[in-house]
Amino acid sequence: MPEPRAAVRKMDAYSPPTEGRRDALRLDFNENTVGCSNAVIECLKSTLTADALSIYPEYAEAKRELAEFFGVAEDEILFTNGTDEAIQVLINTYIDDGDEVVLLRPSYAMYRFYAQLAGAAISEVDFSADLSFPLERLLDAIRPSTRAILIANPNNPTGTGIDAASIEPILERAPNAAVLIDEAYFEFSGVTVLPRIAYHPNLFVSRTFSKVYGMAAMRFGCLFSQAGNVNFLHKAQSPYSVNTVAVLAARAAVRDRDYVRDYVCEALAAREIICNGLRDLAIRAYPSQANFILFKAGHRAIPVRDELRRRGVLVRDRSYEIPGAVRVTVGTRAQAHRFLEELRSIW
Ligand SMILES: Cc1ncc(COP(=O)(O)O)c(C=O)c1O
Repeated sequence: MPEPRAAVRKMDAYSPPTEGRRDALRLDFNENTVGCSNAVIECLKSTLTADALSIYPEYAEAKRELAEFFGVAEDEILFTNGTDEAIQVLINTYIDDGDEVVLLRPSYAMYRFYAQLAGAAISEVDFSADLSFPLERLLDAIRPSTRAILIANPNNPTGTGIDAASIEPILERAPNAAVLIDEAYFEFSGVTVLPRIAYHPNLFVSRTFSKVYGMAAMRFGCLFSQAGNVNFLHKAQSPYSVNTVAVLAARAAVRDRDYVRDYVCEALAAREIICNGLRDLAIRAYPSQANFILFKAGHRAIPVRDELRRRGVLVRDRSYEIPGAVRVTVGTRAQAHRFLEELRSIW
């Protein structure tokens, strides 16, 4: 049997618990809970011909359209197979074995995953006890040798975020590092540093179509940075990692602006309902800028998750990283009421 690399031997296996979710109320993965825009489905029906499927993906037209949508130049955007591939390509472009990568804890698991896989020396900065962004501690952790800093804003699973201006000192403190600001939940927070790529050669911003756009199955995302950086990212990426169906779907998705606006409106109203409902039950919830809420169920975190699952409502236990914490995705107001009703009956 061949010997795997040391970095792989040291890693725990990661297996996302994503089987058998189809018929439940899925409030466990921060997805869109009603499905993508009809415009996406209609576009796929009309453009997915045998001919279209027989040709290797072509990206030029889609790049023009999406660059315009995001307000960047065509050479400042890289299409990726979800944000996960954006993280992987960034790490593969900038991180050698033993290089220093700074992460926050707890945060999105794939930062650690790809950094570990690359053999990086990972340094983790804990979120504050109230789960607010630990800006000062993060600045203290940055050293001249830091090669990458990966930040989700707002952060998953905490739901908390940082304002755009507060990201400036991080960029200034780490001129030799690739700083990724992962804006997977941007549409819910309204906070972005995307226009700032023009001023910061070390800034990378990612967006996903897995959340508000309801296209998690498509695996489509975008990574933005200055053109010189994007050239290098291209070199480190498989040439056809984003498939034609995802590209067609993404183009249709961004054209339906009303769909996104309406879904965000609905989710923000539902978030309010869940926050109020949790308060009525005297359950502590953390302020969220995203489409999910982290709340404290204490020693009952796992039983609460299991009991809700038995009742057809899926939520995520996060007590392995924040004691007693459970994360619930916010969808529609009706789904919020259903979640609260089930929670009340078991609380
Ligand atoms: C912060 C953050 N980034 C990225 C992702 C995943 O994005 P994608 O589906 O585009 O790989 C998630 C999903 O939960 C997330 O929470």
